[in-house]
Amino acid sequence: MNTKVGNNLINGIKEVIVTRDQMEKKVKELGRKISEDYTGKELVVIGVLKGAVVFFSDLIRRISLPVTTDFISVSSYGDSANSSGNVRLKKDIEIDIRGKDVLVVEDIIDTGLTLKYIKDLLLERNARSVAICSALDKPSRRDKDIGITVQYTGFQIPDEFVVGYGLDYAEKYRNLEDVCVLSPEVYGKN
Ligand code: IMP
Ligand code: MG
Repeated sequence: MNTKVGNNLINGIKEVIVTRDQMEKKVKELGRKISEDYTGKELVVIGVLKGAVVFFSDLIRRISLPVTTDFISVSSYGDSANSSGNVRLKKDIEIDIRGKDVLVVEDIIDTGLTLKYIKDLLLERNARSVAICSALDKPSRRDKDIGITVQYTGFQIPDEFVVGYGLDYAEKYRNLEDVCVLSPEVYGKN
């Protein structure tokens, strides 16, 4: 199957799992909810590079509060489709979050190891609160011992490797507008 970006067909895609229209509607809902929940608070929105960039840019424009933004980058997957379980800080935030309410914006939560690492780091910096907003969630993959809770979720999806809407495979496919399941042949080629 193919998906389209503009008028171009993209190969290597098995199916579309969340359409751009479904995502747009969901982002509006999430923005509205977050705006209500944080009314009167100083919200800091932190995007997790690089996967969350597309979702982050859509979401912050649906939050009708003054927000401060920053980015963090960690590595856990490398180039492969399998988690290594090791999380390493690649780029730290640059703003002071002491006493602030922080919302971490992520593309997808899988085992939960990445967000656990980020949440603990931000709490160590004395954030007042740290909540998580993830475009996608694979609940079946969660490591239950981690005890991580996602306050705002776009879509729960089955345990399949997905790309598009910011998510990559080996740094490719981030520009697809739909969230798509990658064809198994693509893994074989690498
Ligand atoms: P976790 O630490 O296992 O929760 O993994 C989360 C990170 O793994 C995300 O930030 C993604 O970068 C990556 N990841 C997990 N599942 C997928 C997927 O299906 N497609 C692309 N990246 C994924
Ligand atoms: Mg990521």
